[in-house]
Amino acid sequence: MDRTNKVRKAVIPVAGNGTRFLPATKAMPKEMLTIVDRPVVQYAVDEAIEAGIEHIVFVTSRNKSAIEDHFDDTPELISNLHRAGKTVQVSELERILPTAGSISFTRQQSPLGLGHAVWCARDLIGNEPFALLLPDMVCYGARGCMTGLMDLYSEVGGNIVAVEECDPEETSKYGIVGKGAPVSHGFAVTQMVEKPQPSQAPSNFYLNGRYILQPEIFDILANQERGAGNEIQLTDGMLRLSQAQAFHAQAYEGRTFDCGSKQGFIEANVAFALARADIGDLVYDSIKHMVLTHEPQVRAA
Ligand code: UTP
Repeated sequence: MDRTNKVRKAVIPVAGNGTRFLPATKAMPKEMLTIVDRPVVQYAVDEAIEAGIEHIVFVTSRNKSAIEDHFDDTPELISNLHRAGKTVQVSELERILPTAGSISFTRQQSPLGLGHAVWCARDLIGNEPFALLLPDMVCYGARGCMTGLMDLYSEVGGNIVAVEECDPEETSKYGIVGKGAPVSHGFAVTQMVEKPQPSQAPSNFYLNGRYILQPEIFDILANQERGAGNEIQLTDGMLRLSQAQAFHAQAYEGRTFDCGSKQGFIEANVAFALARADIGDLVYDSIKHMVLTHEPQVRAA
């Protein structure tokens, strides 16, 4: 079969331990933590579908079956909701149900790192370019971040990463790219480095967890050595791929919340709640009250 250049499939890795959210993640996947009333992973799936993705591959692991259940049908619940006249809830459940056969699950038996998790999807992706969305990086904006990457991809092809500017003092938290010549709505990537100290960082543009990658990344990841944090790092693999193929970056016009951290997760909940027509005003009033009165003052030990 001829190789297609169209990006039809997306990988969503959900096999990490979620240690920063223990004990919440002892029995529940961190990707099922909710932002307002939708699990974190739902935001990534919605963004992928908005961008035209036809098939989603989840890289999952033990104790993550709630994710599979979330994307399955719930006929008893739906008929109960129908009987109770809860049509809004029925519509939402129907909206999030993927078309039959449009999602697949594969396992990463041990959380060896993001690069290894992506490699686990190689057979399900095959020899074609694919989108990659890290679900704990939740994008908030008028337009989906992946939709913007698809637009740039249709113009320049190759490999595309989404970036955002971080505090230059905080580069050691992220994968950082070097900025080259401008191209259409993006720029050429000159360097990629995982978690550099500020003095070593080529810029303050960090990888915000959205990528379009060519399938040659799989052969590279197959023999990628462990890097930062003793994990098989995707950024190290991309750096090697960039010696043979072009990488372009696009600065996301919205804002990305790192919901793998407690602060980012809480900020995301506040931002998404404030934007909601049903609860936004109430949440605004109560947060304003808390900030102005410094109440409640009780802090957990
Ligand atoms: P993170 O490093 O943020 O997730 O990976 P983590 O390892 O679960 O977090 P902590 O540090 O223990 O709290 C980003 C995404 O990549 C997935 C995670 O599930 C998350 O969605 N991931 C990470 C894997 O699928 N496999 C891995 O080996 C590592």
